[in-house]
Amino acid sequence: LKALPRLKTDVAVIGAGIAGLYTALQASEFADVVLISKRGLDDSNTRWAQGGIAAVTAKTDSPALHRQDTLIAGAGLCSYDAVDVLVHEGPERLQELIAYGTRFDKDEKGRYELTQEGAHSQRRILHAQGDATGAEIVRALSAKVKNNARIKVMEDHFVIDVITDQGECVGALVMQPDGELLFVQCSATVLATGGAGQLYRYTTNPDIATADGVAIAYRAGADIKDVEFIQFHPTALYYPGAPRFLISEAVRGEGAILRNIDGERFMPNYHPQKELAPRDIVARAIVSEMERTNSSFVYLDITHESETLIKHRFPTIYKFCLQYGLDMVTDWIPVAPACHYIMGGVRTDLHGETSTKRLFACGEASCTGVHGANRLASNSLSEAVVFGHRIVQRIKQLQPLADIPELSYSIDRKQNPPDMVAQRLKLQKLMLRNVGVKRSEDGLEKALKEIERMDRLFGYEHRSTQAFESLNLLTAAGLTTKAALMREESRGGHYRIDYPSKDDLIWRKHIVLSLEHGVR
Ligand code: SIN
Repeated sequence: LKALPRLKTDVAVIGAGIAGLYTALQASEFADVVLISKRGLDDSNTRWAQGGIAAVTAKTDSPALHRQDTLIAGAGLCSYDAVDVLVHEGPERLQELIAYGTRFDKDEKGRYELTQEGAHSQRRILHAQGDATGAEIVRALSAKVKNNARIKVMEDHFVIDVITDQGECVGALVMQPDGELLFVQCSATVLATGGAGQLYRYTTNPDIATADGVAIAYRAGADIKDVEFIQFHPTALYYPGAPRFLISEAVRGEGAILRNIDGERFMPNYHPQKELAPRDIVARAIVSEMERTNSSFVYLDITHESETLIKHRFPTIYKFCLQYGLDMVTDWIPVAPACHYIMGGVRTDLHGETSTKRLFACGEASCTGVHGANRLASNSLSEAVVFGHRIVQRIKQLQPLADIPELSYSIDRKQNPPDMVAQRLKLQKLMLRNVGVKRSEDGLEKALKEIERMDRLFGYEHRSTQAFESLNLLTAAGLTTKAALMREESRGGHYRIDYPSKDDLIWRKHIVLSLEHGVR
């Protein structure tokens, strides 16, 4: 048995997207912070966010309208209080992002340019560098973090688990770049580990999105909520040899239309808001058109807009498509849905605290109740800063943690770990086929059985980042599939072909999963 080396701090923040960077900065105003990132500071899901950040800034808009749009998109399962917090506190947090150095795009009169996305009744989305909003936010916040003497950044460090003592979280077990373990002891731990896109074969998320927060919190005994609700972005690039690059909803917001492979515009047949209907509706309409026309994609057509608008508003997307010989100015862009966002996550209260004391969750890893069954576009960046701020207010009130006794560990390395790449791919295909845009009891049962079988192949003893990530993906896949099997209705990001209608009588409620209590 080896003694576990220990690093003491006040607050540990795990993850370096908008939620982690912002929360670390805020906490550093009164505490010493360790920011742990499994890669570099510029490697996060946030870095890829295009569309923007939703917050009320226009005189013609109001928090009440933003609240109404969010509640409608959430299909009856949003927490009214959480949404109310989001829409009222979002504008102030936006000003802090600006104060931290984020430069949002302005028009020639110096007013913020506002764009539109699906299910928003108003233009209320701020963006940066046209369609590189996330990259600009990460640039500004990470520069501040690097220059902050109270924040110790640990890049290429992987958090295996959080450690609990008598029901309280007392810190994190971290694997250092050389494979050695470290215990970071702290009074508050914030999971800001991002999303779970890697659950699926096709995703707009980078390969770091491996559901670490949900899996870590679940193993620590915290409640996991709403994880059956997965948002498939309707328009990811579908082109041989190209990754499923996100083609922002803002492209539709600026007038693009969807056509099936016969060139017919189809969204007016599915919803009065046409291409700007809620995401789940657009994604399912696309899948239905693909099935009907026996095709694996549809087209996004913005060729009727001016070259100037296209290149000014979407420079990143324009350049990316051009690499593959697709010119948005003249060509229809082949697109298909891809996994984009998980609405559920680690259940928190209105101050980001989970059901485990001193353990907080922020951003996509959390389930604050803001998104319900379907997230309104561009609400996630606002959610991260609004609840990041509230987490820090709560942490301020915590009593410092008393020292805990020395910890020791032993790990047996297994000789023949499973082939991680093959296992991950297998899981992603299983999820795509059986727990995707359209689900059924048969498919979900098959997926659950296979996930349980695969889970038994992995153990802590494998001790590599890839193995721990695979383990986390399997845990999250099991939770999502279990909840999807239970929810015998269709709502938001969860659609069952065997239960195609919304059932408000029985199912206007949440599924909460935890180690101790099972399903609630
Ligand atoms: C997009 O730009 O379409 C993505 C924005 C979001 O997911 O909120």
